[in-house]
Amino acid sequence: MRFNGMNFIITGAAQGIGRSISLKLARQGANVVVADLNESEALKVAYEIDCMGKAALPLKVDITDTESVRHMVAETIEKFQFIDGLVNNAGGDQIGFFLDTDEEIWDQLISLNLMGPIRCCHEVLKVMVPRQRGKIVNIGSDAARHGSIGEAVYSAAKGGVIAFTKSLAREVARYQINVNCVSPGPTKTAQLEQSQAILPGLADALKKSIPLKRLGEPDNIADAVVFLLSDEADYITGQTVSVSGGLTML
Ligand SMILES: NC(=O)c1ccc[n+]([C@@H]2O[C@H](COP(=O)([O-])OP(=O)(O)OC[C@H]3O[C@@H](n4cnc5c(N)ncnc54)[C@H](O)[C@@H]3O)[C@@H](O)[C@H]2O)c1
Repeated sequence: MRFNGMNFIITGAAQGIGRSISLKLARQGANVVVADLNESEALKVAYEIDCMGKAALPLKVDITDTESVRHMVAETIEKFQFIDGLVNNAGGDQIGFFLDTDEEIWDQLISLNLMGPIRCCHEVLKVMVPRQRGKIVNIGSDAARHGSIGEAVYSAAKGGVIAFTKSLAREVARYQINVNCVSPGPTKTAQLEQSQAILPGLADALKKSIPLKRLGEPDNIADAVVFLLSDEADYITGQTVSVSGGLTML
């Protein structure tokens, strides 16, 4: 199996896209740190991984808190000794017209969606660089590439993730560390359900404008992430790959 003996941290792993990434990695032999704010759901994903005979470390982590991120990395090293890959998947939106939002909401969106991945990369790279190997995949959003009503500040944060990915990839390439971004289009998870509750008819409208005429499944996004974590992607860095049924073609 291609990830045998390898250790990965997945943030936001308790549900949706993060859960799908975690299970796919474990099925291919990986040990997985199931890091999420939602401890009870993280425990369930870890149990599913245990049942496959692979090691899982469920951790309650808040990526908006630097101490919590430091604790995540320390616990991972204590259990698994080294980190082969990090997926910065945890994120979330608060849908609303820009003029109806305020600075408190902007700070929350940026702390979670942009500063969260920055915090996690900073801590994880401290242990990846001395090993001179590793893979990081950041989860962006096609809201940043395409534009999306009701998601102005979220899109700004995700656009920051895409820009951060490129410059960080250039800096750490000398250590044989790859940094890429997977940019989902509308995908069937709790996040999309929240948007749909505020904007009824959203899913149908999106399906019409997606060339492949369907919404994404979490597994569709996870397949691209798993590829970018694999040896087959050793010569790919600094890239953003949209997984969106063709909604965005850049
Ligand atoms: N679903 C979509 O349509 C879509 C589209 C584009 C991008 N994305 C991105 O994909 C990623 C995964 O989203 P999803 O759709 O699976 O969402 P989701 O809401 O189903 O899952 C997000 C997970 O992140 C966790 N989380 C939230 N805040 C956290 C924090 N501070 N610290 C640690 N964990 C935290 C949640 O508990 C949850 O388990 C996110 O970055 C999201 O922005 C999703």
